[in-house]
Amino acid sequence: MSPDTQTATVRHLSDHIGESVVLRGWLAKKRSSGKIGFLQLRDGSGVVQAVASRAELSEEGWAAVEAVSQESTLEVTGVVKEDKRAPAGVELQLSELRILHLTEDYPITPKEHGTAFLMEHRHLWLRSTRQRAALRVRSEVVQAIRDFFYQRDFVNIDSPILTPAACEGTSTLFATDYFGEPAYLSQSGQLYLEPAAAAFGKVYCFGPTFRAEKSKTRRHLTEFWMVEPEVAFMEFDGLCDLAEEFICSLVARVLDRCAEQLKELDRDTSALERVVPPFPRVHYDDAVKLLNEKGHAIEHGADFGAEHETVLAAEHDRPVMVHRYPAAVKAFYMQPDPVNASLALALDILAPEGYGEIIGGSQRIHDHDLLLERIHQHDLPVEAFQWYLDIRKYGTFPHSGFGMGLERFVSWMCGLSHLREAIPYPRLLNKIYP
Ligand code: 4AD
Ligand code: MG
Repeated sequence: MSPDTQTATVRHLSDHIGESVVLRGWLAKKRSSGKIGFLQLRDGSGVVQAVASRAELSEEGWAAVEAVSQESTLEVTGVVKEDKRAPAGVELQLSELRILHLTEDYPITPKEHGTAFLMEHRHLWLRSTRQRAALRVRSEVVQAIRDFFYQRDFVNIDSPILTPAACEGTSTLFATDYFGEPAYLSQSGQLYLEPAAAAFGKVYCFGPTFRAEKSKTRRHLTEFWMVEPEVAFMEFDGLCDLAEEFICSLVARVLDRCAEQLKELDRDTSALERVVPPFPRVHYDDAVKLLNEKGHAIEHGADFGAEHETVLAAEHDRPVMVHRYPAAVKAFYMQPDPVNASLALALDILAPEGYGEIIGGSQRIHDHDLLLERIHQHDLPVEAFQWYLDIRKYGTFPHSGFGMGLERFVSWMCGLSHLREAIPYPRLLNKIYP
């Protein structure tokens, strides 16, 4: 390495036009004739084409160009040249190439592979263009979520993962042994967030949640990340406004900061540009009427299935807020609608383009005796909920919150057909490797 050569990253190569730089990374692809080689070098920050000319390399250098195989580790030295047609805006004219590790028989070749094969090789599949693009969008969304709440004075209060009781029904619990006592992996951080709202006013948690989903669908993971805000004295209309503002803010951030990734994913961004307020707000009663008009024989009082959600969402080009679901089909903690007590002050937000429910939320019951009655009705163990009831005993207050599944949101942003590509290591029914 000559003294004026500096170690660079692909992302910032355009700051070094005309200079000689050193890059370390992996060989994504190679084409070569006897005299010239074109190497796609990936360093984590991006991909750049490196041009190797036999005439300009040492004998060992050219031998390395000929020998290097897909996903070998490389160190190259070269001069940065402007190239407006290249994705990175530059290419590299190589003067040196060293193989740091020669890879043999990399399993994921440029030919098409089935998803099952790729999922078995998820640890390697991460290196592929589309996978990298989707996970970068995820990373941006995580940051945007934290920024959204930070800018609005929310305090981050993370809920425990090991819990003694259920939050979202007992049918999808993962049970484990906690020193001889039963414990469950958390389905939602909500119950622990409500007490924190009395301590801090506006709080949110953001972490992994677990549901033993026994069906195989494109929209269910058994381990997924959920972000949940909870706000003291916020009632149902305020909740709907907050959720709308939240979604719009995240979509705008993705459009602003992830243009390159959305392009790599062939995402139609015009569909995302239409995601601006106000979102249509549809009462459950009207949603049932609409479904009946469209020929779906759903009865008033029943929950919606995926096909109903698709029909409701297809009516609009932006997310739809369906509100006031029957209390009987929702969780035990939801505040009844003052107009019709058989309905709950519940909100589901359905994404357009068939992405389904991305947000579920509600106003919470703040009356102690009503909450106790619901715990009994739902056959939940009262002892395990004493602490939760305490919040209604010592300075109770109206409050509301929602949860958004990170992978659902990211799939929608990226236009992915399955949630498994929106999380680095998906956990699915009967799938825990790697
Ligand atoms: O509607 P859910 O079940 O609501 C709750 O858990 C509330 N306790 C949240 C709250 O009010 N704080 O789940 C919330 C969201 C869904 O809208 C969906 O986006 C996502 O979590 N979700 C899943 N994502 C991936 N895989 C699964 N199995 C999911 N189940 C729910
Ligand atoms: Mg839900």
